[in-house]
Amino acid sequence: RTLDGGGRHLLPGLIDSHVHFRTPGLTHKEDWAHASRAAVAGGVTTVIDMPNTVPPLRTGEEAHRKAELLTGTSLVDYRFHLGVSGEDPSPLRAVGPREATSVKVFLAGHHTAPDVVRDPAQLEKVFRTAAESGLRLLLHAEDDGVFGLLDEWRGEPSGYAEYERHRPRSGAIVAVARVLELVRRHGTTVHVLHASTAEEADLLTAAAHAGLPVTFEVTPHHLSFTAAETCRVGARARLSPALRQQADQERLWRAVRTGQVATLGSDHAPHTREEKLRTPAQAPPGLPGVQEMLTAVHTGLRRRAPFEPPDAQLSLLVRLLAERPAELFGLDERKGGLRPGLDADFVLFDADERWMLGPGPGSGPGSSAIHSKCGWSAYEGWTMTGRVLHTVRCGETVYRCEGDQAEFGEPDGRWLDARRPTDVEPR
Ligand code: NCD
Ligand code: ZN
Ligand code: ZN
Repeated sequence: RTLDGGGRHLLPGLIDSHVHFRTPGLTHKEDWAHASRAAVAGGVTTVIDMPNTVPPLRTGEEAHRKAELLTGTSLVDYRFHLGVSGEDPSPLRAVGPREATSVKVFLAGHHTAPDVVRDPAQLEKVFRTAAESGLRLLLHAEDDGVFGLLDEWRGEPSGYAEYERHRPRSGAIVAVARVLELVRRHGTTVHVLHASTAEEADLLTAAAHAGLPVTFEVTPHHLSFTAAETCRVGARARLSPALRQQADQERLWRAVRTGQVATLGSDHAPHTREEKLRTPAQAPPGLPGVQEMLTAVHTGLRRRAPFEPPDAQLSLLVRLLAERPAELFGLDERKGGLRPGLDADFVLFDADERWMLGPGPGSGPGSSAIHSKCGWSAYEGWTMTGRVLHTVRCGETVYRCEGDQAEFGEPDGRWLDARRPTDVEPR
């Protein structure tokens, strides 16, 4: 799946199936132009954007309008996940594969979640409607208890360690168990997002073995940081679901390495520095990550298995970041690999180069600028192993870097067509 180019590797353009590019309505945090620069600098040539914008994206018609809005602003090709209101999931019946093949459902609420489905009867209806419409449900599986606790918290960032100690992890585990029960009842095809605990990985793996149509995603943040990091960095490292314990992280790595995980998604969710510097109760959860994802996970793999052949590690990353997302989201007829007939999306990756994320151009030859509009990264100060040197989308160079200088191509990324999960051959 990879070609060796003398220490440099040619990978297919990556698909990040979990980004919040904040357009429309939240462009003070991030906008499509900045975010798509961050994406190509991270080797990503296709993104699937989340619906929690202002207004939220819920219908096929809105998807058409959003695609129109983005014309001429994107370096990457794109698709959208739709949102759904628990009160009336019926618009899902009218969604064609052109518009979307997947729908994100929040089981718990936080600052940036407009549509939360709390009512059990509504949730049943959403699962049923998605199953009947051949749509894949993407689950934000957490419990509202977590957020209730958060709202009561009045501490300052100095008290963050204490706050994190009390933040329950059981909410996510209970929510995943609930999701599996609904899948059993309705046969809905489900992808659980940002699994963060060992128990979730166990439950989801067992369910898949038992034949339920469930897969799951892990984020680079949960593989890179633990709750200890949150205590050190404070509210800036806050995300939803929260960073967990060392044992959880080890379990997630095992799931990644043994093929239990279907996709890695960056959950690129930028907020401004000012927003993140509020007290823990006020700071919105979420971190940028589309630029950091490939290299952060590659760095983690190297650290864990320094003597494993680089090719094996890169093949694993290609599987999780290109092939599987293409299969899951109906893009495999044009994206997800280096095969004749697919789009000419390539990434030239130097697996050995060590570098750091810097605040801007001119930070020195061993550094790269942060391209997200939010201007910060949880990985600042990290030494990254493996660097994207060149990104090509549809045969055109969209990113090139030399030293600390970056160059970008034309923002002519397109809205992609896709097939439904039910059209995809069973694996
Ligand atoms: C995301 C956001 O800010 O949009 N935040 C997060 O902490 N992950 C929302 C989400 O993915 O749930
Ligand atoms: Zn989420
Ligand atoms: Zn997200």
